[in-house]
Amino acid sequence: MADARVQEPRPEPAAPPDEAELAEAGLLLDIDGAVATVTLNRPERRNAMTFATWRCLARIGRSLPPDVRVVVLRGAGKSFSAGIDLSMFSGGEQPDGADAEATDRFIAELQEGYTWLRRPEIVTIAAVHGHAIGGGFQLALACDLRVAADDAVFCMKEAALGLVPDLTGTKPLVEIVGVPRALELCLTARDVPAEEAARLGIAEIVTPRDRLDETVRGLVDSLLAVNAGAAAAIKRLLWQAPGNTLEEQCAAERREQIGRLRELFGAGRRTA
Ligand code: ACO
Repeated sequence: MADARVQEPRPEPAAPPDEAELAEAGLLLDIDGAVATVTLNRPERRNAMTFATWRCLARIGRSLPPDVRVVVLRGAGKSFSAGIDLSMFSGGEQPDGADAEATDRFIAELQEGYTWLRRPEIVTIAAVHGHAIGGGFQLALACDLRVAADDAVFCMKEAALGLVPDLTGTKPLVEIVGVPRALELCLTARDVPAEEAARLGIAEIVTPRDRLDETVRGLVDSLLAVNAGAAAAIKRLLWQAPGNTLEEQCAAERREQIGRLRELFGAGRRTA
């Protein structure tokens, strides 16, 4: 079965969040041509994230200009993100689950802050240093690629708080490490240092802390160097591959290649 999340056409961009919304969410947004950089920007709270952060991330996803091809998520200060701001649990907005439907809607809205990172027209990179805990680890997992500084530590902390990871992280975690290792990481809530994260496939690249930005820039340049249409088609293909039979995947390859051939060699495209 194809992964429906990666087959939706890119929606018309909505209005971007304004400065006040970004500030309330603890985010910075910089769009420079084909590259958007989202910085988690509450360093004094180790970039702990609030409900406003996740809603604003969703809005950033909805408002991305169509020429953006790469999105980088990074953290200001000492850490990528310490996960949910623990004050959220005592705030008025925290649902208690009594109304299952309302709670389902509440969580689904927050998950939208993460799901857009899988869209095929963009490649998303988490640049992780310091801690990536709970919702912070899940944010890194929502990205296509993770570049970790050698001081990075990943931790799926939810079980220690009596919760489950519900910010889209369980699927990519299992896809990357398999069910037994995902169980071990989630049920012990232990720290996973950068080197082990690389061994498990959680981080594609590990780099010295002081070279994180440079390494990410190099990766971004390589991603932008290939054909944009081919990149989107390949992302669609690869994300659906695990859920497809060989026959379905071969058919999907043919479909995508027909689109590529039309684009490259179709009538009106030849420069005879
Ligand atoms: N929520 C709110 N405030 C936080 C959070 C958080 N998740 N994490 C850190 N802070 C605050 C601290 O309370 C502290 O505030 P203070 O300066 O007013 O005392 C400040 O950020 C700095 O934190 P320290 O603990 O002093 O920083 P340190 O670098 O030593 O440790 C670490 C960083 C490991 C991230 C630690 O702060 C921590 O364990 N935080 C809690 C992580 C957590 O349990 N997150 C929830 C995961 S579950 C989920 O996301 C769904």
